[in-house]
Amino acid sequence: SWAVDRDKLLSDPGVYGTFAAYRVDADWARLEQSARIAHLTALKGVIEQYREKMAIDLYLLRGLSDHADILFRVHATELKDSQQFLVDLQASLFGKFLNTVAILHGLTKKANYVPGFPEPMKNDLKAPSESGPYAIVIPIRKDAEWWSLAHDKRAAMMQEHTAAALPYHKTVKRKLYHATGLDDFDFITYFETAKLDDFQSLILALQQVKEAKHNRRFGNPTFIGTVKSLDQLIETLAQ
Ligand code: HEM
Repeated sequence: SWAVDRDKLLSDPGVYGTFAAYRVDADWARLEQSARIAHLTALKGVIEQYREKMAIDLYLLRGLSDHADILFRVHATELKDSQQFLVDLQASLFGKFLNTVAILHGLTKKANYVPGFPEPMKNDLKAPSESGPYAIVIPIRKDAEWWSLAHDKRAAMMQEHTAAALPYHKTVKRKLYHATGLDDFDFITYFETAKLDDFQSLILALQQVKEAKHNRRFGNPTFIGTVKSLDQLIETLAQ
């Protein structure tokens, strides 16, 4: 099979992550259910076709977010492949009912600071984290001062960040994308959790460390939703 190695795309450095959020047009709900089902079958075809070369994750934002109804997270080794998928998605019968709310992208990289952390902290970071059902996406932009600091100064602050965050490592799964130059912010931070109260405490704990003073933009938008399989998303959109 030509199917991509999804685990590799989700863990390797040098992979592009694109977050595409859409609002479903009000006309969608006015379609006959049979037409909705036919359109969604076509959508399924497009996604299945592209799943052979990229990792595609789906989220339902409707009901939890007023920014958008659905979110796609696409991982690919070439950004042009993600673009082709999203262009085909929009050209599909279902895609005609989608209004783009935001498209963010970034690149996964090898850890910048972790290699210099103390061994016990590195080990703590290797423990597994629990995933979903909730997913949160927060874009972050640092200030100019942050980028002008020497590596060791930033590393010390990131160690402080990590120490404050580690109590939540078990219940909050995270993934970091570097976006400087590819988008209007520096990072896209992505989280999954079953414990939103832990997640909220984590954010508050991180606001207390020095590194947080260098956040010029935090969220705006913040996307919050639930992880869905393709069939679950189709079921929601068909109703
Ligand atoms: C970077 C740990 C939660 C924002 C890092 C790094 C570690 C880390 C180890 C350094 C990666 C490297 O070496 O390049 C954690 C842990 C978390 C957590 C254990 C809890 C589960 C968060 C949250 C946010 C956040 C909630 C913000 C919403 C960032 C950003 C960076 C970063 C923006 C990149 C900073 C830079 O490279 O300048 N985190 N983090 N983290 N984290 Fe967290």
